[in-house]
Amino acid sequence: MTDSPRVGAVGDITELASFYADPPDGVRANMIFSADGAAAFGGRAGPLSCPTDQHLLRILRGFADVVLVGAGTARAENYGPVRLTDAQRENRHAEGRPAPPPIAVVSRSGELPARLFSDPDQPPILVTCARSPARHAVGDGARPPAMVAGDDSVDVSRAVELLREHGMRRILCEGGPTLLDELVDADAIAEICVTLAPKLAGGQPVGLRRPAQLSVPAAMRLEHALAYDDYLFLKYRR
Ligand SMILES: NC(=O)c1ccc[n+]([C@@H]2O[C@H](COP(=O)([O-])OP(=O)(O)OC[C@H]3O[C@@H](n4cnc5c(N)ncnc54)[C@H](OP(=O)(O)O)[C@@H]3O)[C@@H](O)[C@H]2O)c1
Repeated sequence: MTDSPRVGAVGDITELASFYADPPDGVRANMIFSADGAAAFGGRAGPLSCPTDQHLLRILRGFADVVLVGAGTARAENYGPVRLTDAQRENRHAEGRPAPPPIAVVSRSGELPARLFSDPDQPPILVTCARSPARHAVGDGARPPAMVAGDDSVDVSRAVELLREHGMRRILCEGGPTLLDELVDADAIAEICVTLAPKLAGGQPVGLRRPAQLSVPAAMRLEHALAYDDYLFLKYRR
């Protein structure tokens, strides 16, 4: 028998955060969608979000060994190194994981935003493929360390395997939709945290999304549905 999902309202972000302190051993995806299913508005996720959702995103990072994103998201959202609060650093220290999680960017082109290189103590990880033009620049000191998974494009199953082989077992994937599709296709999603925004966004095309290869949709189990400030925070496990 499985536990019933927690369904209700929460009073504040601290209460909300307590429902996310058990990341799976594998990929936890975190995404926000408008009530009509858009993943962005005008090319950014920000217009769909709210301070509580932003706060939750930072909290989830504190529970992760690595933050995995597609390069489209890293560029659109101008990603930089993860910054943790003092409390997050203390918790991680107590668990023997003192360093903040690195950002691992899936990319064939190797075009990463400059801000990701702003802290030499926290270089990004480039997750690329053998035929990437960026691969040959790797290791010259100015480029991030790279993981090579796949030939023409990144094999996301292999990428997850490589991260895990390097001790990064709690993988927080922050999107975008293209990378999420590929992880779903590879049956690599252990958990998905979805924020449903009280907004309608209309058609908002993102990325170069291909039809899924799945024969049936992958079934998930609801762990919680928590309302705060008209937003709905959902967590599903595989
Ligand atoms: N709603 C949300 O929660 C959420 C979350 C994240 C992002 N977003 C939004 O989504 C939009 C970006 O979407 P997107 O689908 O373009 O983003 P994405 O999945 O982050 O990035 C796509 C890019 O990632 C690289 N990539 C992905 N799979 C690859 C593979 N198998 N092999 C090699 N490279 C691979 C490629 O980079 P290269 O071009 O460098 O080769 C590709 O162009 C933005 O508007 C962002 O604001 C929304």
